[in-house]
Amino acid sequence: MCGIVGYIGNKNATPILINGLQCLEYRGYDSAGIAIVQNGKINIVKDKGRVSNLKNICSNANLNSNIGIAHTRWATHGRPAKINSHPHIDNSGNFAAVHNGIIENYNELKEFLTLKGYSFLSETDTEVIPNLIHYYYTNIISDNDKFLKAVNSAVDKLRGSYALEIISSLYPDQIIVVRKDSPLVIGKGNGENFIASDIPAMLYYTKDFYLLEDNEYAVIYKDNITFFDNFLSEHSKTIKNIEWDANATEKNGYEDYMLKEIYEQPNSIRETIGSRLELGEKCSFDDINFTLEYLKSINKIYIVACGTAMHAGLVGKNAIEKLCKIPTEVEIASEFRYCEPIVDKNTLCIYISQSGETADTIAALKLAKEKGAKTLAISNVIGSSITREADYTIYTHAGPEIAVASTKAYTSQVVLMVILAIHFSEILGTSDKEYINKLKSDILDLPAKIEVILSETNIIQEFANKVYTEHDMYFLGRGTDYDVAMEGSLKLKEISYIHSEAYAAGELKHGPIALIENGVTVISIITNSNLVEKTLSNVQEVITRGAKTLVITNQKLTNTDFNFVITIPETNSIISPILSVIPLQFLAYYIAKNKGLDVDKPRNLAKSVTVE
Ligand code: G6P
Repeated sequence: MCGIVGYIGNKNATPILINGLQCLEYRGYDSAGIAIVQNGKINIVKDKGRVSNLKNICSNANLNSNIGIAHTRWATHGRPAKINSHPHIDNSGNFAAVHNGIIENYNELKEFLTLKGYSFLSETDTEVIPNLIHYYYTNIISDNDKFLKAVNSAVDKLRGSYALEIISSLYPDQIIVVRKDSPLVIGKGNGENFIASDIPAMLYYTKDFYLLEDNEYAVIYKDNITFFDNFLSEHSKTIKNIEWDANATEKNGYEDYMLKEIYEQPNSIRETIGSRLELGEKCSFDDINFTLEYLKSINKIYIVACGTAMHAGLVGKNAIEKLCKIPTEVEIASEFRYCEPIVDKNTLCIYISQSGETADTIAALKLAKEKGAKTLAISNVIGSSITREADYTIYTHAGPEIAVASTKAYTSQVVLMVILAIHFSEILGTSDKEYINKLKSDILDLPAKIEVILSETNIIQEFANKVYTEHDMYFLGRGTDYDVAMEGSLKLKEISYIHSEAYAAGELKHGPIALIENGVTVISIITNSNLVEKTLSNVQEVITRGAKTLVITNQKLTNTDFNFVITIPETNSIISPILSVIPLQFLAYYIAKNKGLDVDKPRNLAKSVTVE
């Protein structure tokens, strides 16, 4: 959701900015633009549509400058259109800004500026910003740091969330950035510096980053960066070295990032397990130090997240309740924020977010902190906003996930939640040692079992070929199979645009069965030996009513009425979603490919949802 890039150095800024925008395409956007300072003037090129379109326009625009800012816009205020694309410029033409976030009081500010004689071209909330900067700039008498002071005065008036980059034709040697509740990182080069919404966009150029905090300003020159707080007092900042390999953000021969990420799962899971789980040893986490006394004091655990991360939370809840006997609730972050959750110092709140930038999840975390709860973040992105807000953080280490539809991050989140549950249960002494040892060995076997599933995709492809023109599909399961049914249904919606619903199989008779008629597709997940017969009866009920069925199972089923069966390796039901989700990821992928859709960048979606 909105991507920001900036460059200042000795090189031509345009190709670097375009390359950065391409790296951020996965975040989701509908228009793109850049602004540079050339011959003492700000030159803006922007349009609706893809970055490739912007690249073509730029190649004919004779752009040449060592400083520039760039943006991909995901429309919030104002339709996707050239006029609403960023960068936006003030009436005098001296200040240009790009913005990620939402200015909630933009109407008020617009009225104020209109009274002062300013006019507006776009329908956006952002356009007030460069004009407000100009207003304060013309009202500041002292000459010292006039640009920074004007930005600071303008930002002081903003309500909402923002990551901002500002350039001025009057100051062609600097870019000013500031953030609040929207991501922004600065990459340090040699005689050049980079700015972006996230780290992967800059990995080609540097591995040294400054992670900007909320309400922190940076004035960036080509060979110097100065940091200021909200009151403009200067401070120093530690640099962070990020180990990610730039190759990890390439497709490496795969047709799409999503396919690559599906195939990366054996490895990403190995990385998640790391040294946290070893046979014959107790599980350990370097990053948390919960004592027996603290764990005993917990009366409830909340797991809060959005989308796929929330589905991983559901599997985590089952593991925690089974192994630790602590009541655990899973809540959608946007609901948690406003449902007046009963949270106190005896509640542990776990927040799962691949990107670590999801606005609702971060706000939900801040709320729990205010109420005195301990907060633990699970994220894939080192130094992301959520990790800086939480009391504790553990990383999934799944490597960069670029495709909008999450695959490897989900399986890593589930693995991590289960290892965490084992860790807690080992401290609490709530689980049978032998059972835990077997579960540990099952976890260690996961990568090899996933490899088996990855090598046999023909049935799922055949099924996808049969059903890709359909309009509705249903997913059924019980227990953790229901959790994975929800994730399979979400994957299908996200990238194939087919309407789908997931139901707890036992709930089928309470309404949804009315929708089952001849030819309707029903996908059932059956991996829990205790629940096989129950779910099978439900599948039989839909077969009787003419449904076309795909069954994903690790059981030996004798029923031959199913149209398709995918057999996956057996494992403990606590972790079976990690195996059963993979055919569902493939199903969504192949259906979307059959429909000729862009699987990596599905319509209307953003990888990183940085607004409420
Ligand atoms: C968006 C993405 C989903 C993702 C969700 C949560 O909706 O499209 O794939 O699951 O955000 O993202 P997070 O980064 O917090 O895990």
